[in-house]
Amino acid sequence: MTTEKPWTGRFTAPTNQFVEAFTASVDFDQRLYHYDIMGSIAHARMLAKVGVLTEAEQDQIIAGLGSIEQEIEAGTFDWSVALEDVHMNIEARLTAKIGNVGKKLHTGRSRNDQVATDIRLYLRDEIDLIRAELKRLIEGLVDLAGRETDTIMPGFTHLQSAQPISFAHHMLAWVEMLMRDRERLADCRKRVNTMPLGAAALAGTSYPIDRTYTAALLGFDNIAENSLDAVSDRDFAIEFTADAALLMMHLSRFGEELVLWSSAQFDFIDLGDAFCTGSSIMPQKKNPDVPELVRGKTGRVYGHLTSLLTLMKSQALAYNKDNQEDKEPLFDTIDTLKGSLRVYADMMPQVQVKRSNMYHAAKQGFTTATDLADYLVCKGLPFRDAHEVVGQAVRHCIEHETELDALSLKTLQGFSEIITDDVYSVLTLEGSVAARNHIGGTAPVQVRKAIARLKVRLAE
Ligand code: ARG
Repeated sequence: MTTEKPWTGRFTAPTNQFVEAFTASVDFDQRLYHYDIMGSIAHARMLAKVGVLTEAEQDQIIAGLGSIEQEIEAGTFDWSVALEDVHMNIEARLTAKIGNVGKKLHTGRSRNDQVATDIRLYLRDEIDLIRAELKRLIEGLVDLAGRETDTIMPGFTHLQSAQPISFAHHMLAWVEMLMRDRERLADCRKRVNTMPLGAAALAGTSYPIDRTYTAALLGFDNIAENSLDAVSDRDFAIEFTADAALLMMHLSRFGEELVLWSSAQFDFIDLGDAFCTGSSIMPQKKNPDVPELVRGKTGRVYGHLTSLLTLMKSQALAYNKDNQEDKEPLFDTIDTLKGSLRVYADMMPQVQVKRSNMYHAAKQGFTTATDLADYLVCKGLPFRDAHEVVGQAVRHCIEHETELDALSLKTLQGFSEIITDDVYSVLTLEGSVAARNHIGGTAPVQVRKAIARLKVRLAE
């Protein structure tokens, strides 16, 4: 195929070989080929509609682009670094295939508006795929919660046992984070779905283009209002990466808990053999590599966000070649996020919940002490006095290596005479959990309602 650059006219010397490699982006931007061809087909149709191309020329261009897409998909397309990027590679191949008509495709267009269009089309589809994986993960968590509404575990503050909670309630906390991510991505997609094409290099074009027609062909909701902004704006990529960074932070927190819970010390869950790996030296090991890696990969997405923000911060209007550096951070963000969501969504149905271990752990650490204080308050004691009484009872338990619900009524009455034998129902884990009976509380009856509401929100 020809490797002749389309811009050699004003040059007398050939490009330095290393400069050619240094300035090229084809190694990574070839992943945009489908969107590049899609954008070119819409552009050619628009040019024919306004009379810049004939119908016959339009048809030849569209057929040529179609067969180039087949070559790329078959792996027979010969990508050339000398042709710099995906756009010039495809355009040069088009001219090689259909002759001089191919040279007319770039009329009224620049690679500056072309590349911005390609990235937006690509990212729009990727957001849809990411949202689908995210939904699959959320549904897995909601299913798990549905099976475990009556499973009791210790709830933590400062990673110290605090109060008993329903395991399902804990799962739904993760779900709330992910539901916000889902909303954020939908909102981001609105701004991604704006068409830069027609801005040409920076100022627009003197051809009688019909941008409304091109936008309709490509499914864009909006047309970029200002040509300078259209070619130079990468806010949409930064916004997406910020949303991705936040989502990865959630997956990382979630991963941290999975790692802790699958340790011998917690022993709350089993992640399933298919999602763990062994050790080459310690035969007993079953390592939670998947959540560890997701936790680790969060760092690179944060890095990509910083890269993109820094990439843009000193750019004068309009397009600058700096912008070619937007692709690798964006692509790696997409790959990392999609992979992390997929592996979590696949893993969720395999998670085994060790109910009795969680229950036993919830009984440690005086997790119903607050319930005892609330009981005393109901019987007329001011809260601060109740807090003091229960503190003394807890200290007694620590000294005697026992639990609050193992104390005799006589011993309890030694701390406060208003205690009667109805106290024991308050000291149980079940009673404590069931008592938090309001919207957003951990009582199983409320958690079941929360699950029902989530199912409605997911179906919307
Ligand atoms: N490969 C370039 C990029 O990714 C395409 C636009 C190049 N435009 C230019 N005037 N050199 O940004």
